[in-house]
Amino acid sequence: MATKSKRTASKTKNESTSEEDDLLMTEEPEVTVSIEDLPGVGPATAEKLREAGFDELLAIAVMSPSELAEQAELGEAVASKIIAGAKKMANIGGFVSGGALLDRRREVLKLSAKVQSIDDLLGGGFETQALVEVYGAFGSGKTQIGHQLAVNCTLPVSEGGLDGDIFYIDTEDTFRPERITQMARGLGLDPDAVLSRIHVARAYNSAHQILLVDEIKRLSRGMNVKLIIVDSLTSHFRAEYVGRGMLAQRQQKLNRHLKELKQTADVNNALVLVTNQVHSKPDAMWGDPTKPVGGHVLAHASTFRLYLRKAKGGRRIARLVDSPNLPDGECIYQVTEEGLRD
Ligand code: GTP
Ligand code: MG
Repeated sequence: MATKSKRTASKTKNESTSEEDDLLMTEEPEVTVSIEDLPGVGPATAEKLREAGFDELLAIAVMSPSELAEQAELGEAVASKIIAGAKKMANIGGFVSGGALLDRRREVLKLSAKVQSIDDLLGGGFETQALVEVYGAFGSGKTQIGHQLAVNCTLPVSEGGLDGDIFYIDTEDTFRPERITQMARGLGLDPDAVLSRIHVARAYNSAHQILLVDEIKRLSRGMNVKLIIVDSLTSHFRAEYVGRGMLAQRQQKLNRHLKELKQTADVNNALVLVTNQVHSKPDAMWGDPTKPVGGHVLAHASTFRLYLRKAKGGRRIARLVDSPNLPDGECIYQVTEEGLRD
């Protein structure tokens, strides 16, 4: 069976071109069967399909014959045959038993915040195979949580860590190795050993941010990646896609980005932590004039949402807002020089 790589040209990471945009729109998780393997597809037809953006079986399988015929400039009978082949060969996924799902859930690990009240709120810690969103106003402590979890992740499993490597996508230039050093010392760890396991990349724009997930996929093969942090998930998207007219496009890209992140987490039995801002809009339900940005796309993608607030005396409040299996609730903790503490 042919294994084809769909990306032919490697690109400089920080350039944002329309070509790159095309890539972002059409790129899919790795495939093991290429479109050349479809019945009735020779090199010329394959080229037509690729030019029309159909470089992957699932994209073809979901088309109607008339649509595919029109978009790829094929005869309808040919299109119909190609679609039928794609439906058979595409990895559509399927139903699995509850028992199989339970087996998968048993692989879930928990990363401790090393703060009892936070771990309790989360039923023992931050779960792998999940996407956790931490949102709150500026200065509420989102980046502090990212730093702390990065440090904790290097701890052995017996001490609440995941004994794993960390990828940190920094969009706001707020990653501070000095802060990691303080927090590592706070846990009695060797700061250099901790820093050597945290792999940081600055994302210059949203397209670059998206490409960095590919880079994580590539680099993670020989590693024990257990935590992927995107701090902040939404700032570039917000800055670049301004106004109603851009909203649909923004949400589409964000959705795709989140799916890629989640998939990378699942493959590695890792946790994804993303931070998010709030926009000020009075909200009767929470009695707090803030709500996370990112809309439904992000709301649906996050397995857990934690809302951070500052409280009196330098304390912080974390509220668990959305969880598939835990009650909503709140906890109080502190940010100290050594890191997060009860
Ligand atoms: P934005 O990214 O601006 O939206 O904010 P954020 O939510 O990421 O806030 P961040 O995590 O950067 O929190 C900053 C706050 O953490 C500071 O205002 C301090 O209150 C606290 N903090 C950071 N470092 C230290 C430290 O070394 N000691 C103490 N006590 N507090 C710290
Ligand atoms: Mg921050």
